[in-house]
Amino acid sequence: MAFRTLDDADLAGKRALVRVDLNVPMEDGKVTDDTRLRATVPTIEKLRAGGAKVILLAHFDRPKGKVVPSMSLRPIVAPLSKVLGLPVAFAEDCVGPKAREAVNALQPGEILLLENVRFHAGEEANDRKFADSLAANGDLFVNDAFSAAHRPHASTEALAHRLPAYAGEQMRLELDALDRALGHPERPVLGIVGGSKISTKLDLLRHLVTKLDKLAIGGGMANTFLYAQGHDVGASYCEKDLADTAREVIRLAGQNNCKLFLPVDIVVAEKMAPGAPARVRDIGHVDEDERILDAGPETVERLCRAMGNSKTLIWNGPLGVFEIPPFDKGTMEAARHAASLVKAGKLVAVAGGGDTVAALNAAGVVDDFTFVSTAGGAFLEWMEGKTLPGVAALNQ
Ligand code: 3PG
Repeated sequence: MAFRTLDDADLAGKRALVRVDLNVPMEDGKVTDDTRLRATVPTIEKLRAGGAKVILLAHFDRPKGKVVPSMSLRPIVAPLSKVLGLPVAFAEDCVGPKAREAVNALQPGEILLLENVRFHAGEEANDRKFADSLAANGDLFVNDAFSAAHRPHASTEALAHRLPAYAGEQMRLELDALDRALGHPERPVLGIVGGSKISTKLDLLRHLVTKLDKLAIGGGMANTFLYAQGHDVGASYCEKDLADTAREVIRLAGQNNCKLFLPVDIVVAEKMAPGAPARVRDIGHVDEDERILDAGPETVERLCRAMGNSKTLIWNGPLGVFEIPPFDKGTMEAARHAASLVKAGKLVAVAGGGDTVAALNAAGVVDDFTFVSTAGGAFLEWMEGKTLPGVAALNQ
């Protein structure tokens, strides 16, 4: 894909409308993870250095086209300003007189955040008139929100057709990393897909087996595969109605020469509670009242060996219930092993998706991976081989 980047832009004195993703986790009015705030810094710095006026467009939560005060972006102003080390002005609307006045007051190098674009129904409807109203406040458009690029919304899609459109620095980083991991990876390439439900990752699994040399399946979804192969899974979470689908994935993997790694042993317990007595079992040897909560040591060792024999790793989803020790062990060990291979220059490791990032954070290896995406749904859809409307709109 060919994108215009900020290196191609004449920025001096221009009003740059920048779509960023400020949909950050908040508790009691406080941002609990500022990764997405930090991700905005390189683009904002570049725009300021070029003498542009920086006007940030973003959504927060899902207000569904209505003004919902608890979903205002105002509480993000202070933490964003702190991360940037610069003042950030705020306008109470993203279009209309309030936005216009605030934009008109802006000097080159200054930063303005406009209120939640999803307070207007036109945003999610990708409405032309709403996109025109947004475009009225800019001379150019920069999309730096890869993590919202799977949404065909006015501020991610239609706006790119109304103003000269550029990929921001975070967008560039994400696309480069994803291309290195799945578009044009150094082979062999190994995927790890974990998490609880196959039902949310069907398209992903079907696509990955056509792209990867090896695919390891972990987490709750591995239970469905074990069940589909005739193994007892006791009281484990298991989507029994998807056994045929699991068998289809196994068949597709075979047809595409993708070597599948399913658990050979597992960690079980009667309760999913911190410190619950955990036992290692061979697959198929799970008692009626036991639940599979983590990958077993032999499984993790095989996975680490497979990493050692690979050049590229793409990872989505934990191998076990990593939030509740001791069921975090498999995920932590695998994550640390991947990080050590990256540090030794032997592996390119790219990871993404909400739970995955939380798991890598818990393992303390986020900074050691080659790239950790800020995206949840967008990362998954991209891994599924889908075209992301926000990315496609930049390709002009
Ligand atoms: C995300 O948090 O993954 C993005 O900001 C997209 O948010 P959405 O799922 O509400 O569209």
